[in-house]
Amino acid sequence: MDVSGELSIRGLTVDYGGAGGVRALQALDLEVEPGSFHAILGPSGCGKSTLIKVLAGLIPRTAGEARLPGDGSVAYVPQGNSCFPWLRAEENVAYGLKLRGVGRRERAERARDILKSLGLEQFSRAFPGQLSEGMRQRVAIARAFAVEAPLLLMDEPLSALDFQTKIAVQAELVDLWRDRRCTVLYVTHDIDEALTLADRVSVLSARPGRVALTAEVPFARPRHQAGLREQPGYAAAFRKLYEAIEG
Ligand SMILES: Nc1ncnc2c1ncn2[C@@H]1O[C@H](COP(=O)(O)OP(=O)(O)OP(=O)(O)O)[C@@H](O)[C@H]1O
Ligand SMILES: [Mg+2]
Repeated sequence: MDVSGELSIRGLTVDYGGAGGVRALQALDLEVEPGSFHAILGPSGCGKSTLIKVLAGLIPRTAGEARLPGDGSVAYVPQGNSCFPWLRAEENVAYGLKLRGVGRRERAERARDILKSLGLEQFSRAFPGQLSEGMRQRVAIARAFAVEAPLLLMDEPLSALDFQTKIAVQAELVDLWRDRRCTVLYVTHDIDEALTLADRVSVLSARPGRVALTAEVPFARPRHQAGLREQPGYAAAFRKLYEAIEG
């Protein structure tokens, strides 16, 4: 898979509902380095999901340009539960592969491998309704990684998890990302989570969203959200992002 090339967004404007509607994003510029993990923070309603959906090709842009890494294909973990309830865990994971024409045997193998790396091998035949919320989130993450797209878009994929589960899945997520070297754009409203996962963090302004600040995360990896506050420089890094979100 070609994962080279940056994600480059120029002057992105998105209006919902045409003239007199809602302007969600206004002339947004963003550069994301190839292979990096880039988090997006911002107040509720500022257009974070809109940004992700435009890049996923689900809603049209009103103006602006977006250049995507590699062959331009993307994988997407939507906000909220996104598993198909009528498909087993392994079928959910294999779904995107099926759409891309991958054969049955390879689909099953790749789905099994990735479920295993997320600790779900014993639940591959279960339906989403038979899984816990944390397991369902992991299935949604597995499904996105399975297609091996050069750009992975994730919209608050861990926000429904308790702290302990979140920490475990964060570590699994970072391992998968480092293995595959894809570029990740990761929306969260949790500053500590952004500081745990990302190489860089961009904060969007209140609606209409544009990039108010982009900051490097100064902490060495591996990182652990439970120990983040003991890192030198944590208080300053947190405050900078917090104040940017407050506007
Ligand atoms: N389908 C839609 N039709 C009309 N307006 C929409 C639609 N989807 C979102 N909006 C509006 O666009 C703005 C941005 O919404 P968006 O979902 O991108 O915000 P968000 O930053 O993801 O918020 P949250 O943190 O709550 O998930 C909001 O004002 C919302 O009301
Ligand atoms: Mg959202």
